[in-house]
Amino acid sequence: MRRLIVANYKMNGDKKLFASIIKKINKLKVMDTKIVLCPPFVYLDEFKIKNKFVSLGCQDITIQDNSKSTGQISPKMLAEFQVKYVIVGHSERRKLGETDAQINEKVKICLNNDLLPIICVGEEKKSDKLDLVLCQVERALENTSKDNTPIIAYEPVWAIGTGKIPEPSRIDRMSEKIRAKIKDLGYQNCIVLYGGSVNKDNFSEIARSKIDGLLLGGVSLKIDEFIAIVKGIDNE
Ligand code: PGA
Repeated sequence: MRRLIVANYKMNGDKKLFASIIKKINKLKVMDTKIVLCPPFVYLDEFKIKNKFVSLGCQDITIQDNSKSTGQISPKMLAEFQVKYVIVGHSERRKLGETDAQINEKVKICLNNDLLPIICVGEEKKSDKLDLVLCQVERALENTSKDNTPIIAYEPVWAIGTGKIPEPSRIDRMSEKIRAKIKDLGYQNCIVLYGGSVNKDNFSEIARSKIDGLLLGGVSLKIDEFIAIVKGIDNE
């Protein structure tokens, strides 16, 4: 089964680190795994990808649609750097006040500009009702074409950067609920990723859950560990 692995570098890295990452990534051979690298905007141009299994993504997109938007970056600019994917609605952006309505706007802007949104959803606390996550999915996808295959990253907020991960059964349950919701909404297919504190020691257990791939934060900066995870997933 084809898996998708997304690296979210967040506000980390520098030219030197990314040059060493790209060197290794360009040599990486996989059989059946797609890799998406999402650097900060200012480093997009450093990512000269020469590996057919690897695509470029970014970490956000603007909802402004005119040139009088100081500080924003347009979809057309992203296309010039061969960006194909956009992380949308990450909890670290939701924390800054991003709303479900804005996330929905961003998803639509991506789809209208041939960019694939990776929609992040997840409960704040372990004790939260999982149905909240399904509301986030539904709101993010409002008024989008049913011909799309939504990419949903289930990222429990309490698991991001904390070293805590959910029981595999919880990931399974959530992934099944997300798939059922997407089907209910009228889409044929979807891709469900898991993200939150994945590392070289826990990835294979997580990957046995009913997910199509991983969204990796901190570990994507440790290139050897990242490659070990990619290869491990690819060989499964
Ligand atoms: P983490 O981050 O892997 O460092 O927990 C995941 C994410 O925020 O997407």
